[in-house]
Amino acid sequence: MRRNPVELLPVEAFEFTRISVPFFGRTVHTISGPEEMKAVLLDDADAWRKSPLVIRMLRPVLGDSILTAHDDSWRRQRKALQPGFVKARILDLVPAMAEAADRVSAFVGQASQPADVTPALNEAALSVIENALFTQAKSFNRAIMRKAVEDVFEGLGRTRYSDLLPLHEATPRLMGRKAQRARQVLRKALTGEIAARRLSGDRHEDLLQLLLDARDPDTGGGFSDNDVRDNLISLVAAGHETTAIALTWALYLLAIDPETQDRAAAEIDSVLSGGPVTKESIAKLVFLRQVLEETMRLYPPAPMIGRRAIRNTQIAERQVKRGDIALVAFYALQRHSRYWDNPDAFDPDRFSPERRPTDPWVYRPFGGGPRACIGSGFAMTEAIVILATLLRDYRFAPVHGHAVNPVMTITFRPEGGLPLYITPRQ
Ligand code: HEM
Repeated sequence: MRRNPVELLPVEAFEFTRISVPFFGRTVHTISGPEEMKAVLLDDADAWRKSPLVIRMLRPVLGDSILTAHDDSWRRQRKALQPGFVKARILDLVPAMAEAADRVSAFVGQASQPADVTPALNEAALSVIENALFTQAKSFNRAIMRKAVEDVFEGLGRTRYSDLLPLHEATPRLMGRKAQRARQVLRKALTGEIAARRLSGDRHEDLLQLLLDARDPDTGGGFSDNDVRDNLISLVAAGHETTAIALTWALYLLAIDPETQDRAAAEIDSVLSGGPVTKESIAKLVFLRQVLEETMRLYPPAPMIGRRAIRNTQIAERQVKRGDIALVAFYALQRHSRYWDNPDAFDPDRFSPERRPTDPWVYRPFGGGPRACIGSGFAMTEAIVILATLLRDYRFAPVHGHAVNPVMTITFRPEGGLPLYITPRQ
């Protein structure tokens, strides 16, 4: 559990859809079937809450924000942010995404060989989310902010022995000194940014503006500066590493499957003709989207999420008691022998228009129900822009003999990075 929670998934989770095991007076239900997923995440969502362990891990940094709040507090924040994630607004961000992708591509080209691609992909994803949060950041130094983000999230998701104690979600989890200092830097920078925007009265089409404009439907009151700040941190937290990880796995799978890489590159050449990714090209990069969908089937960036029952309920006709835990195992669902032929094989054509799964609950990389990812469209668009740019410019090949081991810390990444050989295409 401490080293890599995904290894706890029993082999039966890939053949059956629910395994219930007693655990310190409660029952842990590992679920990996579509019917069970839909019951917990959608049909019976109000009987379940996000896992107290994850809430305890995240609250010291994210406060009571969209990612960690419950009930009315969550609803208010979700409603405020939702308009920022409609398709038209995401597409407006494509030029900024393409700029970030070009910067990363130039950087990747200078790396010595073989190169670990993960830092560059992280940098690209962070730069894209920063742009969406503040179209113009006035008061902070981006380099200092990046370092603070890195330090504050480092180790945040790694389970400690003390996390396995059945503590209430309100019990604060201790942070190391480095992370505490970084949190201070991050909070100060964002508070300065919020104050500068409020003071100037300037308006911008970004997520900060949405948070500043949000009004409580009952009281008419706005968000406090701390609420705005914690939501900004949450969007950085939820939005950058997950996307960077999806891209990392996509490059890995394409590197070990040169034919699929050629096919993706041919599509990119015909759509972009060597130019930047534009708003219009997103819908045309059909095969590239399939590559990303198939990548997230095999390596879901969030492979497993936890829920705790807040009342007695059922999962697909089986009794669940208040206090029981559900481990919602997307990783097992998406490699389940009952729902996928040859489940461990990389085959982007599974997502072609003719072959796509008809049941949406067999594929859930972005979760489901009311707490599903708010940024799924944003993430897909951003991943297409960055991957298309990199495959337009380079060819990627694996380093033979380098063992790639996926490890989950809340997200699912290759342990020790991912070295690849990178050669310019023209
Ligand atoms: C490939 C990239 C991504 C993946 C795989 C992913 C996956 C997920 C999953 C599985 C959840 C549900 C967690 C749960 O129910 O416990 C979630 C929630 C969330 N994601 Fe994402 N995400 C990605 C990118 C993003 C981006 C780019 C953003 C923002 C720009 C974002 C913002 C959020 C937020 C705010 C939530 C919480 C929603 C709520 O509780 O109402 N995510 N994500």
